[in-house]
Amino acid sequence: MISKKMIDDINAQINAEMYAAQLYLAMSIDAWRMGCRGMNHWLRKQHEEEMQHAYKFIDYLESRHVEAELADITDVPKKWKSPKEMFEQALEHERKITERIDALCRAAMSEGDYATFHFLQYFVGEQVEEEASAMEIVDTLKCLGDDIAALYAYDTSLLARE
Ligand code: FEO
Repeated sequence: MISKKMIDDINAQINAEMYAAQLYLAMSIDAWRMGCRGMNHWLRKQHEEEMQHAYKFIDYLESRHVEAELADITDVPKKWKSPKEMFEQALEHERKITERIDALCRAAMSEGDYATFHFLQYFVGEQVEEEASAMEIVDTLKCLGDDIAALYAYDTSLLARE
């Protein structure tokens, strides 16, 4: 039996994942405006991945015979000053998501809800990857600085994300 508190926490996480999906979609559109086609592509893929995360939580609730509840998604930023600022914000956002997943794990463990704790382990691993990918891009952008030719080559390399 899953508790009301755990259901509420998972519904809040569904909303957080859908917020992340919309944030990455907004970033993707703004990267296109900046002429960064590789980042546009990478961020669109990230948007899709965030929707997959939301679906996993919805599927999990349904597997426990619980109907997910969607909330409005508001206050998503739309413009950034530079790709560096954009990816710094993406990294900051991923760190917040990691904190949320950790809090969910603590709640599941303290309630003795081992099924939910087990389900959450996928996201524990996933957040390590999410932070690492965003950090790699931030570090590379810092390293390249204002070297336009190098930035163009790096941006092009991001088109390879499948
Ligand atoms: Fe679904 Fe990027 O965390």
